[in-house]
Amino acid sequence: ISTLFATSPMQSVKAETTDTNSVTTAEWTRQMAQNFVRTSENTAPEISADFKVVADDLWIWDTWPLRNRDGSLAEINGYKVQFALTASKEYTWSGRHDHAVIRYFISEDGENWEVGGVAYDPEKAYGSRQWAGSAMVDDSGKVTLFYTASGRKENETAQNHFEQRLAKTELYMFEDEGEFTIENTGDHQILAEADGTYYETQDQKTGSIIYSFRDPWFFQDPETGEEYILFEGNTAGYDKELDPSNIGDEEFRATHDVPEGSEDFNGNIGIAKATDKSLDNFELLPPLLEADGVNQQLERPHIVVKDGNYHLFTISHQFTFAPGLDDGIDGLYGFVNDSLRGDYKPMNDNGLVVANPESDPFQAYSWAVLPNENVISFINEFSDNGQDIKGGQFAPTLEINLDGENSEITGVLNEGEIDYPETEEDTTPAWSAESLEDYQ
Ligand code: FRU
Repeated sequence: ISTLFATSPMQSVKAETTDTNSVTTAEWTRQMAQNFVRTSENTAPEISADFKVVADDLWIWDTWPLRNRDGSLAEINGYKVQFALTASKEYTWSGRHDHAVIRYFISEDGENWEVGGVAYDPEKAYGSRQWAGSAMVDDSGKVTLFYTASGRKENETAQNHFEQRLAKTELYMFEDEGEFTIENTGDHQILAEADGTYYETQDQKTGSIIYSFRDPWFFQDPETGEEYILFEGNTAGYDKELDPSNIGDEEFRATHDVPEGSEDFNGNIGIAKATDKSLDNFELLPPLLEADGVNQQLERPHIVVKDGNYHLFTISHQFTFAPGLDDGIDGLYGFVNDSLRGDYKPMNDNGLVVANPESDPFQAYSWAVLPNENVISFINEFSDNGQDIKGGQFAPTLEINLDGENSEITGVLNEGEIDYPETEEDTTPAWSAESLEDYQ
């Protein structure tokens, strides 16, 4: 989110942890986070001012398609489904974050999307509004929607307005008598809260940028079958001074100046492990990667595995880089490793994978790399003939080639278009309203 917020206290909740001594947390150091340069490999083309509008009464931003348990793109009875943060345009562009609800969108061709409706009963959802997440349909046809519960519906105060908890609900989507149907009155559950040990709570926060415990992304490790949620966190207990390991090697440290205040920037990519297949119980583990002294927000982290390489992606802003790291840009950043845990290396040397064009450095945001190497995002802010345009709709999709430590944008598709693989057979069970009642 591109707004600065004041510190506000919240209660910390201690999470259960296991023996994590053998676990590596990768570092994105100040030495790595240098020399961000726009090139033809990483820079998206300018977005046209007559972009496609899917819903003219809604702001649309962070978006994620429904996926199968193994991360592949899912379809329900031939329908493609995406979820997105939305807010009525009666709210201002910057005020939308305070009114976010998750809506679903359906499409038969993966290009022309239709707004479905709110994906759950807003009365039952946790949070005064719901922020980004992910969605997975399992073999039984049950959809699990993971989301961020932001603030509190009841007893909300200025202090806990920016509290964030990881939550989920379950729902069913199916075709019934030729109509796409949703049964979404299910219960909601909080899955994890900042523990104050690995993950900073609001009352531990320093600095002026909003803290993070949000954006749960479901991930099944193809090597082990183990299941996780990745999320955006901040490192707890990190407000005094930088470790040399956050800065870089000895030679770099000898000449690199770390301005005061850098210690307030402590973004990380958090991870919690599902302790059973119900996905009701998760255990917080030490972060997968941290950017202490480097960047405050590693947003919407997610993994795409290709050729045995685990590509770990996150989005970040120019203004969330720590002081002295002045050439950071609003972009998609990537890291690569040969397994889920380990010493991830930044892709393309410093991590930059997708940048907006220099002429419109904030034109798109919230990129998500899909397993088919399509990169979706939303249209943010840009200028056209001196006119300031707020997008709030699906951005043109980028095609990218992931090649180990390197990446290259290879093409552009239409706004919101996803190149779904041809499915030979639809394996989604066809619920009917009656059979669903039996199941529940
Ligand atoms: C990224 C983001 C997410 C958050 C949402 C809030 O665009 O900041 O981290 O869930 O926007 O609107």
